[in-house]
Amino acid sequence: MESLKKSHRSLLWCVFVLCVQLPLTGGCPADGRTWLPFKDRCYHFVHGDEDKIKSYSFEDAKTHCKGFELLTIQSGEENKFVIDYSSEVWKNSPPVIVWLGMYYDSNTQNMTWLHDYAVNFSNWEDGSLMSDLAAMDKCAALHTNTGKWEIVSCSDDLENGVICEAAQDKEKAKRKPSAVLSALVILSVVAIVGVSAVVWFLHQKHNFGSGIVTAFEYHPPFRVPDTDQSCLVEAEETDSTP
Ligand SMILES: *[C@@H]1O[C@H](CO)[C@@H](O)[C@H](O)[C@H]1NC(C)=O
Ligand SMILES: *[C@@H]1O[C@H](CO)[C@@H](O)[C@H](O)[C@H]1NC(C)=O
Repeated sequence: MESLKKSHRSLLWCVFVLCVQLPLTGGCPADGRTWLPFKDRCYHFVHGDEDKIKSYSFEDAKTHCKGFELLTIQSGEENKFVIDYSSEVWKNSPPVIVWLGMYYDSNTQNMTWLHDYAVNFSNWEDGSLMSDLAAMDKCAALHTNTGKWEIVSCSDDLENGVICEAAQDKEKAKRKPSAVLSALVILSVVAIVGVSAVVWFLHQKHNFGSGIVTAFEYHPPFRVPDTDQSCLVEAEETDSTP
């Protein structure tokens, strides 16, 4: 009976995860990390180990965001969202500087976004674009205390923050409720069949101590009325245990 109770508990846990946790993430990636939706995008603020001083090279940042994008900013509103939320996550002590998903485009001879976004909004620190770094070594970072952007070295600089970004999957967000429902139905069916099978097995063992083989001869395993009765018996037993 103990193991049955345990399986009930894990079933409840599954229901909690499916009903409470998933819908909160909306159309954001479900990769086990915390993604925050804002407008039609999702953001993951990389936490790192609490007790370690953070320092990420550009390569580290790209590795943390593998499969997604490094932070890209398309509007003043988005810039403000990032600095507001950064101050909540990192408390700004010491001031956190995060990598931006930018590179130097030799065609336009200017900084541009990875992933081909147009640079419709920018917030460069005065004179930052004049940086005398070699063109191919120009990367960019955002000061989350001031919201200003700065040109930094791709190869030499280390920053203490990483934010990953992904598009929000609108379809997925809409599909969610029915997906949860079907998952619940499947889970319930699995649970009922599982419990019934165990109860049936125990019954057979009890009635025919001589062995399962004999049991099979007399009771076909999935005879429906038997299973139903077993379920009722099981429910009473569970209820009466303190
Ligand atoms: C380079 O792009 C920035 C926006 O990021 C813009 O403000 C600046 O005028 C551009 N510089 C040149 C030389 O096109
Ligand atoms: C940026 O501007 C271009 C043309 O001005 C426009 O087509 C594009 O949709 C804009 N991108 C964003 C992200 O606002």
